[in-house]
Amino acid sequence: MSDLPTVIFPVAGLGTRMLPATKVVPKELLPVYDTPLLQFALQEALAAGARRLIFVSHPEKGAIEAFLRPADRLEATLAAKGKQDVLEAVREGRVPEDVEVIFVMQEEQLGLGHAVLCAAPHLLDGPVGVILPDDLILGTPCLAEMAAAFDPDRMGSLVAAQQVPRNRVSSYGIFDCDGGATGDVVTAARGFVEKPSPEKAPSNLAAVGRYILSSDVFGALRGVGRGAGGEIQLTDAIAAAGRVHAFRFSGKRHDCGCKDGMVEATLAVQSARRDRHLSMAAE
Ligand code: G1P
Repeated sequence: MSDLPTVIFPVAGLGTRMLPATKVVPKELLPVYDTPLLQFALQEALAAGARRLIFVSHPEKGAIEAFLRPADRLEATLAAKGKQDVLEAVREGRVPEDVEVIFVMQEEQLGLGHAVLCAAPHLLDGPVGVILPDDLILGTPCLAEMAAAFDPDRMGSLVAAQQVPRNRVSSYGIFDCDGGATGDVVTAARGFVEKPSPEKAPSNLAAVGRYILSSDVFGALRGVGRGAGGEIQLTDAIAAAGRVHAFRFSGKRHDCGCKDGMVEATLAVQSARRDRHLSMAAE
């Protein structure tokens, strides 16, 4: 497999872990050094071949729609002033004309599974990608790497995975698999559990915010009830659909849903920008 026609962005969350920064500005628009989280997510979806982008948002987060609208006047002003560098950076956040953008409102916060299900009426044929923008993955674009490894005949889902310390498993979806030590890129899992306690966790291999889902998962989402935290969990539907696979991505993940993760990511992007400037200066 290679291209992923549809990518869903669940962006309705209220960003409580980042308040007061997120009181007015949606967390997806907070800058990582010089670029909003959402722009990184958008570029990753486009790199995976997405032709339809579905944002599952909230009526109070209109700034996300504003950010995705064409900025012709701004671009013309920057061009007229000869500000080429900034113009390029702004253009990198553009949605190409042949890519569709759909907004769906998730009025009630019923969980990630519910958010993904809100997008179900709008999917193109084929497997579906999901990006949680506050999991920033720098390096090789993760979703494209996963799309290349996704085998629709063998897999119900493919989920980005990384090992986490035992005492952190209750913040994640955790795979039931033996692959922890083998280092294989793709590992078949027997199961998948949302936010287990460290005592009950089947492993310490955790899901991070990139998913490729078959239509079986959408079928299962309609049937799963409320799970961990009283929410409709994507993890439960993925487990119910079966043929769960974990994917070890090659990039570096930063948890930008929390303050320290944001600081680490900002320093990583600052250093990448500095390296780029040095190599451009050397040319
Ligand atoms: C969500 C998922 C969880 C996953 C995590 C990755 O949890 O429910 O399975 O491990 O994202 O960031 P949240 O962080 O929204 O509580």
